[in-house]
Amino acid sequence: MSDEVKSKIESLRTTIREHDYNYYVLAQPKIADYQYDQLLKELEKLESEYPQYITSDSPTQRVGSDLTKEFKTINHSIPMLSLSNTYSEEELIDFDRRVREGIGTEEKINYVAELKIDGVSVSLVYEDGYLVQAATRGDGVAGEEITTNVKTIRSVPLKLNRTIIDSQDFSHVEVRGEIFMEIEPFRKLNEERARNDEKVFANPRNSTAGTIKLQDPRIVAKRPLDIFVYYLRSDSAKIQFHDKNLKYLKKLGFKVNTEYKLCADINEVLKYCKLWEERRLELPYEIDGVVVKVNSVNQQRRLGNIAKSPRWAVAFKFKAKQAVTKINSIKWQVGRTGALTPVAELEPVFLAGSTISRATLHNIDEINRKDIRESDTVKIEKGGDVIPKVVEVILDERSENSQIIEIPKKCPVCGSLLFKPDTEVAVYCENQTCPAQLKGQIEHFASRTAMDIEGLGESLIDQFVDLGFLKSYADIYDLKNIREKLISVERLGEKSVDNLLSAIETSKSKPFAKVLYAMGIRYVGAGAAQKIANHFVNIDSLINASEEEIEAIHEIGPSISKSVKHFFNRKENIEILERLKKAGLHFESEQKSSEQKLNGKTFVLTGSLTKFSREEAKEMLIEQGGKVVSSVSGKTDYVIVGENPGSKYDKAKKLGITILSEEELLNLLNE
Ligand code: IVH
Repeated sequence: MSDEVKSKIESLRTTIREHDYNYYVLAQPKIADYQYDQLLKELEKLESEYPQYITSDSPTQRVGSDLTKEFKTINHSIPMLSLSNTYSEEELIDFDRRVREGIGTEEKINYVAELKIDGVSVSLVYEDGYLVQAATRGDGVAGEEITTNVKTIRSVPLKLNRTIIDSQDFSHVEVRGEIFMEIEPFRKLNEERARNDEKVFANPRNSTAGTIKLQDPRIVAKRPLDIFVYYLRSDSAKIQFHDKNLKYLKKLGFKVNTEYKLCADINEVLKYCKLWEERRLELPYEIDGVVVKVNSVNQQRRLGNIAKSPRWAVAFKFKAKQAVTKINSIKWQVGRTGALTPVAELEPVFLAGSTISRATLHNIDEINRKDIRESDTVKIEKGGDVIPKVVEVILDERSENSQIIEIPKKCPVCGSLLFKPDTEVAVYCENQTCPAQLKGQIEHFASRTAMDIEGLGESLIDQFVDLGFLKSYADIYDLKNIREKLISVERLGEKSVDNLLSAIETSKSKPFAKVLYAMGIRYVGAGAAQKIANHFVNIDSLINASEEEIEAIHEIGPSISKSVKHFFNRKENIEILERLKKAGLHFESEQKSSEQKLNGKTFVLTGSLTKFSREEAKEMLIEQGGKVVSSVSGKTDYVIVGENPGSKYDKAKKLGITILSEEELLNLLNE
């Protein structure tokens, strides 16, 4: 009996899954809604009678009833990169040139052009063919687990259609894609919200972003979320081409946007971009551009990544939506690095879903180039989520007595002198203790992507700096000594002060990489901080490292290494560091340096490697604590020699440095 029930349940599930696929993925339903509902009801009935047969991938289990109290942070197995943007034909052609230079001119390079869906990216992990985890992009390194919410999206398969395709095993995969809302259902949702006196969403993307972070999956299930997937990674299957991947994704049961095109060269890509810029309004969902990807995965790998974005892909952004308004005044803002940024205070104007009252003017060169002045009537534009900018001045409407804008003589916040580095357009406030800089630094330190101190936001930081409680971010960890004073601060009660102090204590457990990022070293973003922390393992070896050693880390360039050196050369920063150490923050990576085989050993690579690429070799060495530098010296421990080695080989022999073939290197790594 029970076997019979079990197989009936199984067959109902399979049938329902097929109809879900036809309806939500292919948009080609084969049965009427009524018939579908009957099938689902029958399954629900059987499952309620035989709850022992309920499985998490059953179509009845898409909507859970438990509230999510807190979204767990999870690390992405490999970072979720973002894309660099291009805005013109020339920039795309430049991208193509860089790709061809990177790959070598004799090789054929195909591109895949895809629509850039304006939604929220998500990572989906399938184990043994079952969806086990969905996560947001977060800062690219770590995101938030939103599995229960994502399970409610009907076009996301809970179980893959099949896991073997072309005798390749897809039972363990990570899939990435974009969650979005179609325009029409989004409009209906907003209408309903307006009727219920609820706040309406500015656009489908904001609505999507808000929805996937709701705590109640039952509400999420009612929202019209959808997905397009565009990325597949599998350790068990060999994947060679991106377009082939898209086909695999479709076969696995995912919804893949069908408008993608395999292009033989950049001219075909350009045609595709032009076509879709014209036709974007015909689509039932919003797109904000085209994504261009090198089709060969091998070529992708060889091109690699720079900091946060791949060298093998780029976004072509469509022209932004524009509006005309007036500049009321131009203010100079002081950021956390001390850089002064001119900002236009605008007569508020509605543009692409929101009211705009400020626009960045970037720097004085930009102001001069566009000849922007106070009281000017200007055309502004907003592209995606970037801060609105001034496109041009409408000169016919300029008043006669308008004045050319000049860089202020003094810091508008603290009155200190300004200085201008030779290599930059920006001017800086030279006062390290300028309250504006300090506030910016502390805000960064406490922010969600850094130390994540809940409750320590912009307005509280402003007050604490003004009251003299915070003179550096290290002071945060001494706030507990002035609890009474804090309680007396306007609007802060005992409870919120204690919550804040406990959030500060909790932040002490953040890993080394986060602490390094939080310290706000110029050019050191979250990704770079992670790489540096992985490599140097603890702060002392980082402080003692040379610029060259820092730069030898894969994807760390000279501006980062210079800036790191500069930062730790300053006495004030070392003092702050010592205080943070005393407070108990982590300045050592989890993985102990002594466990790394090649800890502190220096390598030089020469000749062409045949068993792996240079980048791969570097990564393998760095992973084990080794350092890769470009020239041979007495300090070099090993020289790895490929085919046709150059003068480095001769020098190594002369200096008596251990020389390893590729084979011997592998042996060393696998010892
Ligand atoms: S590929 C390294 N393909 O655009 C590859 N992204 O600006 C990165 N997006 O974070 C993603 N449609 O959220 C890719 N067809 C598409 C996309 C797409 C939309 C989003 C995605 C990404 C952002 C980058």
